[in-house]
Amino acid sequence: MTKRRPDFQVMPTLDAEALAALRADIGAHGVQVPIVETADGRIVDGHHRWAIAEELGIDCPVLTIDVDDWEGIETALRLNLLRRHMGPIAWAGAFRRLAEVRGVKLGQGARNDRTSGTAPEVGRRSDVAVLATELGVDPSTARRRLRLADKLADHPDLAAKVDRGEIDARQAEQLVRLENLERRRAGASPPPRVTLGDGIEVRCGDFREVLADVPDRSVDAIVTDPPYNREGMPLYSDLSAFGARVLKPGRLLVAYCGKVDLPGQLARLGERLHHLWCGAVFLPGRHTNFRGRMIRGRWRPVAIFSAGRYQPRHWLIDAVTADGRGEKGPQDHPWQQALGPFVHWVEQVAEPGELVVDPFVGSGTTALACRAIGRRFLGCDLDPATVSLTIERLGAAEAGGDEDDEEGVLR
Ligand SMILES: C[S@@+](CC[C@H](N)C(=O)[O-])C[C@H]1O[C@@H](n2cnc3c(N)ncnc32)[C@H](O)[C@@H]1O
Repeated sequence: MTKRRPDFQVMPTLDAEALAALRADIGAHGVQVPIVETADGRIVDGHHRWAIAEELGIDCPVLTIDVDDWEGIETALRLNLLRRHMGPIAWAGAFRRLAEVRGVKLGQGARNDRTSGTAPEVGRRSDVAVLATELGVDPSTARRRLRLADKLADHPDLAAKVDRGEIDARQAEQLVRLENLERRRAGASPPPRVTLGDGIEVRCGDFREVLADVPDRSVDAIVTDPPYNREGMPLYSDLSAFGARVLKPGRLLVAYCGKVDLPGQLARLGERLHHLWCGAVFLPGRHTNFRGRMIRGRWRPVAIFSAGRYQPRHWLIDAVTADGRGEKGPQDHPWQQALGPFVHWVEQVAEPGELVVDPFVGSGTTALACRAIGRRFLGCDLDPATVSLTIERLGAAEAGGDEDDEEGVLR
């Protein structure tokens, strides 16, 4: 056999399982797909087939092509992208390198991490769409894979799980956010209370304790987003009791709810409050898969309850659409909600200058909504990491403050 030099190994090596399957196949049937090499014996495509054939001492068919180095790399990438069954992250890596070799500028969100050498001006400038189409891939799929690869760049374990099909893209992104929140948790020690300008106050702790001093019948509205999981169910009873105590008579509590346990959540909210209505937030372009039930969820129920008999002050609009695709960054709270709908609900249930409370503030979406449209705000969260996120989002750093203040209050 001729000794060949594998100069164009541009694809990640196959994992052990795939390599063993290829070895077994070649052992049984020989090399079926020719390896591609340059006239001077450098392999462009078929490194694994060549290495296995060498190991087993069998010959393999060869196709010789006449290319310079960059063209060789391009050919190798293109052949692999067209033929290999790759996960989205490996595909994005190969696509990025092919784009680089072609001199194609990758669009927004696609990292240009050229690592070796400089691609010559090959005179074949194209864009992601043309390149993707050439490979038989829908351009939006190509962009989505590139974006996902960027987001998982610092999380190789998760990227490998996506490529193996063990988790999907949404799950991977959510796991990145959870990991980042966990890291933030290690260093987070927000002051117990932070007051900012515009009548905004955020506290750190369990709402049943840190909001115990809120006077009876002093709150104009509660707009909130409690946990939807089963363990969180008792919180809905406590929220109901809290609302019944602090809300002014006839005023409203608006609570985002889950769907799986919606009947239980509504029943508990109704223990001390009066059921008024069920609103909705439509989530175009986003969906949550409930695999067991084979349902793609595209809206969120919003429970609306009153403290005592409801006293309408104006017409209430019971549904709102979350604009945009609602993409969250890797540093965002895993359950961060779109701001637009929160502005809507706050506007519906509180007049300018009135006080809105959110006992489950998370990363501060309700607080941001209140500040945007001039309502006072009081909120808290159990998790110091999310309180520090809220403070960051509200720009507490710019506001400055006196951390030696007796109460840890930033003014
Ligand atoms: C669904 S998230 C809220 C997300 C928020 N709407 C946002 O846009 O970022 C629910 C939050 O409730 C908090 N939480 C759970 N139990 C709590 C309790 N007893 N008191 C205060 N906060 C609590 C969790 O830490 C979590 O951040």
